[in-house]
Amino acid sequence: MSWLRTHTCGELTKEQKGREVVLNGWVSTRRDLGGLIFIDLRDRYGITQIVFDETNKEIHSMAEQLRSEYVIGVKGKVINRSEETINPVMNTGEIEVEVSGITVYSKADTPPFEIKDQIATNEETRLRHRYLDLRRPELQKNMLLRSDVAHTIRNFYHERKFAEVETPVLMRSTPEGARDYLVPSRVNPGKFFALPQSPQTYKQILMVAGMDRYFQIVKCFRDEDLRADRQPEFTQVDVEMSFVNEEVIYSTHEELMATIWKEHLGVEIQAPFPRLTYSEALQKFGSDKPDLRFGVEINDISDEVSDSGFKIFNSTVQKGGRVLSITVPGQGSLGRGALDRLTEKAKTQAGAAGMIFMRLDGGEITCSVSKFLDESTMEKMAGASGAKDGDLVLILAGPAPAVYKQMGSLRLIVGEEFDLIDKSATKFLWVTEFPLVEWSKEDLRYYALHHPFTAPKPEDLDKLESKPEEVNARAYDLVLNGNEIGGGSIRIHDPKTQQRLFDLLGIHEKEAGEKFGFLLNAFKYGAPPHGGIALGLDRIIMLMSGSQSLRDVIAFPKNQKAQSLMDNCPDVVDEKQLKELHISLRKSAELKN
Ligand code: AMO
Repeated sequence: MSWLRTHTCGELTKEQKGREVVLNGWVSTRRDLGGLIFIDLRDRYGITQIVFDETNKEIHSMAEQLRSEYVIGVKGKVINRSEETINPVMNTGEIEVEVSGITVYSKADTPPFEIKDQIATNEETRLRHRYLDLRRPELQKNMLLRSDVAHTIRNFYHERKFAEVETPVLMRSTPEGARDYLVPSRVNPGKFFALPQSPQTYKQILMVAGMDRYFQIVKCFRDEDLRADRQPEFTQVDVEMSFVNEEVIYSTHEELMATIWKEHLGVEIQAPFPRLTYSEALQKFGSDKPDLRFGVEINDISDEVSDSGFKIFNSTVQKGGRVLSITVPGQGSLGRGALDRLTEKAKTQAGAAGMIFMRLDGGEITCSVSKFLDESTMEKMAGASGAKDGDLVLILAGPAPAVYKQMGSLRLIVGEEFDLIDKSATKFLWVTEFPLVEWSKEDLRYYALHHPFTAPKPEDLDKLESKPEEVNARAYDLVLNGNEIGGGSIRIHDPKTQQRLFDLLGIHEKEAGEKFGFLLNAFKYGAPPHGGIALGLDRIIMLMSGSQSLRDVIAFPKNQKAQSLMDNCPDVVDEKQLKELHISLRKSAELKN
C-alpha cells in the first residue's frame, strides 16, 4: 500500500469530491464525538479535516489512539461537509476526507506548547523547541515570505546583469573589527580568521577585478550588544557597482523595493523616494532614521526664548544649546496627570533633563513655566511651533545635538501615545550626506561614521586634515518607517585618498599596509570608480510581515544573550580540542564556565 501523498493538506476543494486521495501531515486537533472522530490534519500548505466513523472498527480505534503532533498518512474519499460544519474562511472548508486507511509514521510527546498563533508561552521555551515554534502558521508564513522575497531579489539582480559571487566566510580581522567573531586555525598556530562583519573589502576588490556588478545574499557576523532589531548573525543583500554615482544606486534600489512590495504585499510604492540630508533629518525629526508615517516636526524656538525671563532657556541658548518644540495636534486640554506621565517618559525613555509644556485651550495659553514667561513670549513660542488653539506644545532645552535626539525620541513616544502614526503606510526615504567621521571623546580619535572606504564629497576633500568634522561623505542610508534597512556609499578608489583617510583615523601607513595592503595594492592596478549598498534582509522581512522582532523572521535566531537555546551554544569545548588549536583560556574565562 503506497502512502505517497496525492495532495497537500491545503489543496482539496469540492472539485475533488468523490476522489480517493492520500494525505500526510501532523495531527493538529482531534475531536472525539464518540461515533465520529474529527482530526485537523496539518502540513505547510494548510489544514484538511479528516473523519473516522465507527463502521470501520479497526481504523476508528486507531484514531482513538492519535494525539497532537503525531505524524500520519491517511487514505480516503473526499466528501462534502455537512451544511453546519462548512468553514468558509478555510480553502478546504467545504470538504472533508472520509478515512479508509491510516498509517502512523511517528508518535509525539505532548508538546510544551500548543502549535497555534498567539500562544502565551515564554520565548525561551519556544526557542528551546524551535522545531515546534516553526510549525506555527505565523512563523511558517514568515519563513515562506522570506524565501519568496529572496527569490524575487535574486531574479531582480540577475535580470540586470549582476553577478552572484560568494565571498569567504573565513577572512582577516580588521582594525575596525572590535566586534569580530574570531576563528582559530589549527594548522596556523596562534593565528586567527575573523568571520565577516560584511564582505565590504571583497566586493570592492571584485570591482577592481572587473566584475562590474556584484550581489550576494550573505550572512554577516557582529559580536555586538543585541536589540530587537539586531542579531549577531544576520543576512545582508550585498551589492556593488562600477562606474556609477549615487543616483544609479538610488534608482536601482527604489525599483527593487517597489518590485518586492508589489509582488509580495500588493502595495504600489511611489518612486523616487524622498531624501533628507543627515542634518535635515536630525533637525526636523531628531533621528538619522526618521519615521515619516506622521508629521510632528521639530521646531527650533531658541530665537523666540533667548531673552525670556526663564533662566534655563536663556542659559541654554547662551551656552550654544537649543530650545526645541513639537506640537501635538488636538491635545491642548490634556490633563495634568497625563502630562506628568509624559514628562516622566521624556526623562526616562528620551533621556531629557525635563519637559516643559504649553496648552492652547479655549483661546488661552497655559505653560508649565508660565510664571517666568510673559504672554507675548508664549505667543511667539506657540507661533514658532505652528500651534493653533486646541494644540499641545512640548519643549526641551539642552546642548546640541543631544537635545535633537531626545526630541526625536519624544516625538516617537508622542506618535505612539496619541495614535498619530499611520500604521498602514509604507514610508521609504534616503538619508544622505552623513558626516565622514566623528570624534570619540572616550578614545580621543576619529572614527568613520560609515566605514573607512567611504568617499568624501569632492568639494570637501581639502578640509580632510584641517576640519575633518565638516567633511561630508558620499554615504546614504535607506530608511523605512523609522528603521534603517540599508546603508552604502560611493567608495574611495585611489590609494592616496584612502591613505589620507586612514591617517585621519590613526591607521598609519605601516599598519594600513599590514591590515589593508591587499586592498591598497589592488587599487594600484586600475580601480574603477565604484559604490554600493547593503540591505538588511532580516529587517526588511520583519517590516513586511509586521513582526515585532528579528527572531520571528530568522529560522534559528540567537536570544538576547547571543545564545542559541535549541542546540545550546556557544558552549565550552574539550581541553583536547583547545590544545589542538594551541589555545589556553585565561583564568577569568575558565571560572565563568
Ligand atoms: P551596515 O553596517 O550599515 O553597512 O549594514 C547594512 C545593513 O545591514 C543591517 N544590519 C543588521 N541587521 C540585523 N542585525 C544586525 N546586527 C545588523 N547590522 C546591520 C541594517 C543595515 O542598514 N558594508 C556596509 C554596506 C556598504 O557600504 O555597502 C555595511 O555593512 O539594515
